[in-house]
Amino acid sequence: MQTLNQLSALRNCLSPLRAAGKIALVPTMGALHDGHISLVRQARDRAAHVVVSIFVNPRQFGANEDLDAYPRQLARDAALLQAEGVAVLWAPTVEEMYPAGYATNISVSGVSEGLCGAARPGHFDGVATVVAKLFNQVQPDLALFGEKDWQQLAVIRRMARDLDFAQPHVSAILGVETLREADGLAMSSRNAYLTPQERAAAAALPRAMRAAIARIEGGEPAAPALAELERAILAAGFASLDYAELRDADTLEPLPAASPHPARLIAAARLGKARLIDNMPVAPI
Ligand code: PAF
Repeated sequence: MQTLNQLSALRNCLSPLRAAGKIALVPTMGALHDGHISLVRQARDRAAHVVVSIFVNPRQFGANEDLDAYPRQLARDAALLQAEGVAVLWAPTVEEMYPAGYATNISVSGVSEGLCGAARPGHFDGVATVVAKLFNQVQPDLALFGEKDWQQLAVIRRMARDLDFAQPHVSAILGVETLREADGLAMSSRNAYLTPQERAAAAALPRAMRAAIARIEGGEPAAPALAELERAILAAGFASLDYAELRDADTLEPLPAASPHPARLIAAARLGKARLIDNMPVAPI
């Protein structure tokens, strides 16, 4: 595996690889867990060469967010990726990604609004901007993202469609199912912020989501089921619920109840220093 942090070196390294087969890109911010490794393995199944990017992107963190605290463990991450047969680790510095004078922002309206977009103003502009740059830098045949960030995936698909990214074409942006711990908590680099006591309480979120989904799939309106979800997680020790909403799985339109289309229950809640997000499918009725 080659670890590169300069764009010129990345381009030199990728052109012979591209001639020899498909390239899959797995964009990450590092602090890799089994969820990331599952993305890498799916990438390997689908492409001759896997490029993983590790870049803690300052543009997607708000002023009072956890940019400085975000876990950084490049040497450990590199060893994991090497063992997974990754061809290239692309780990640019902030200066390489955003050189002096950098002035361009990509803003995707509609799907970026509401949910995490409301709680984290500017976050999805930062995500869309860095992912567009990564697509241009690596020019992959396909790119893989975790479904845990359901809204992020919708934003990236919209951005790729709107900006005519031929490679990856929108059909080659793959969402990979969320991996969960044994108690149901979605794997996330931010779970590292939880104390042991908070970690035990954290499983209340997926549990309450599953309970709400059972009621919604049983034909109840979403509002009372989501009110009960909020009550249950606050009782378990969460500080607050940022949001819990029933949305159309593709358009992210708000839904008052299950519908004939696939839907998604999407939630974010605060526990200790962590803001946990999760989403789960809601079957059509
Ligand atoms: O999901 C993430 O880790 C990040 O938002 C991404 C897609 C790598 C962009 O920085």
